[in-house]
Amino acid sequence: MNDRYVLEMKGISKSFGATQALDNINFQLKKGEVHALLGENGAGKSTLIKVLGGVHRPDKGEIYIEDKNVVMNEIEDAQKAGVGIIHQEIVLVPYLSVTENIFLGREILTPLHTRDMKKMNSKAKEMTERLGLDIDVTTKVGTLSIAQQQLVEIVKAISFDIKILVMDEPTSSLSDEEVHKLFEIMEKLKADGVSIIYISHRMEELFAVTNRVTIMRDGTYVGTVETQETNTDELVGMMVGRSLTNYYTRDYNMSNTEVLRVENLTQKGVFEDISFSVREGEILGFSGLVGAGRSEIMQAIFGNEKYSSGTIFLNGKELKFKNSMDAIKNGLALVPEDRKKQGLTLINTVAFNLSLVSLDALKKGGLINNGKKDRMVDKYVKDLNIKTASVESPVSSLSGGNQQKIVLGRWLATNPQVLILDEPTRGVDVGAKAEIYSIINDLAKEGMAIIMVSSELPEIINMCDNVCVVKDGRITGRLTKEEMNQEKIMHYATGGQ
Ligand SMILES: Nc1ncnc2c1ncn2[C@@H]1O[C@H](COP(=O)(O)OP(=O)(O)OP(=O)(O)O)[C@@H](O)[C@H]1O
Ligand SMILES: [Mg+2]
Repeated sequence: MNDRYVLEMKGISKSFGATQALDNINFQLKKGEVHALLGENGAGKSTLIKVLGGVHRPDKGEIYIEDKNVVMNEIEDAQKAGVGIIHQEIVLVPYLSVTENIFLGREILTPLHTRDMKKMNSKAKEMTERLGLDIDVTTKVGTLSIAQQQLVEIVKAISFDIKILVMDEPTSSLSDEEVHKLFEIMEKLKADGVSIIYISHRMEELFAVTNRVTIMRDGTYVGTVETQETNTDELVGMMVGRSLTNYYTRDYNMSNTEVLRVENLTQKGVFEDISFSVREGEILGFSGLVGAGRSEIMQAIFGNEKYSSGTIFLNGKELKFKNSMDAIKNGLALVPEDRKKQGLTLINTVAFNLSLVSLDALKKGGLINNGKKDRMVDKYVKDLNIKTASVESPVSSLSGGNQQKIVLGRWLATNPQVLILDEPTRGVDVGAKAEIYSIINDLAKEGMAIIMVSSELPEIINMCDNVCVVKDGRITGRLTKEEMNQEKIMHYATGGQ
């Protein structure tokens, strides 16, 4: 008997065709601990969790929960065994309400066997309030922000009677405040005896909330360490198999030639009086808290959202983009924040998704130049280190982080004059981050004007020539690279409290 572990996974292997996603993985979860799973994009973290959750059947291996051998044939088996999972991809049904999603498949019925919406709504309200969430439970999930949807997933997962909670990158689109709230919820759950598996690429979070870390690489088990006894360098070393020098690469070479200028751009209630310019070779950062309006500003410039007044100049010429196609034709590109919603067709191939926006540029006499297209696709798969069985594999077969890289690659391939990046490294591992920084630096070196919206201060400070800080839809501060530091940026971002 071993009552130290609430969960043991022994010798788990799983292949998808020629890809061995998991190779003899052992994993042990102690009662009441928060245990991180760490590894590069495509290391096998989500697959291991899906095996635990009854989404995938393992080829080999066994699962023990409180010493009892359990077979997870389907999702319900995992739920019955007390395993709650918040998957990396949101799996809520968009056209159902928050309540309907929480109670999906286990609706509370009236004596007449109709759905007791009143009771379910009031229960759902109680659950969301207990977690301190301010969400109307009757709203359709599809109308909520990604962050709110993620919080609904959390409410749903813990509404079951669970012993084990798994969170696969729960914070990737939460604001600092919401992350803080999540950590409080985790503390409460721990106090109630729930054990937690936590997956995140944000190292500082691992140090803030976990007791132990298990590292995986290429589907294999590397090791397990006590969080208190390790450090970022050691973890990165175990994860990528080498130490990362040169995390940020930046040759500053901003010219004086202005490419894009925005004057007094306003959409009442969303953003107001936004003025800035970006030059050839410049990386201009947009910092601020999540929800400050930065993405909306970028979407408006790009022709995806409306603005009521203000002017945009490209190379000194006044322009107003009718839609994003118009913006692309004029030499703009925007890598959106929400890659899940804006962009990938999961059933299509890696090659198709990578070349989707640059098809026009790849045409010769009305026909697509296939040789050129193949070279372009190969280049980005290599440069971004996209882990895929082949360029003809469907995007749905790629890990979450590798899907993110495809959206990035697709826009880089359009070779724009102005590149707008909205949270370019969200969800990607440390190694891939370093590669992305190096690519961004190369593009700036070639003279591209780059705007980078980022909530990660180190990224802004180490990569940008200048930064605009946005609070409540207004630019509250501007700093040059010599002036920037975390304190000053936070000061403007929070209004000087
Ligand atoms: N349904 C599938 N079909 C084919 N291959 C798959 C499938 N799911 C995962 N894989 C492959 O298995 C490997 C592990 O993927 P997994 O999603 O577990 O990685 P991960 O560690 O969660 O990465 P990330 O940090 O990017 O989320 C990858 O090579 C991926 O392409
Ligand atoms: Mg994953």
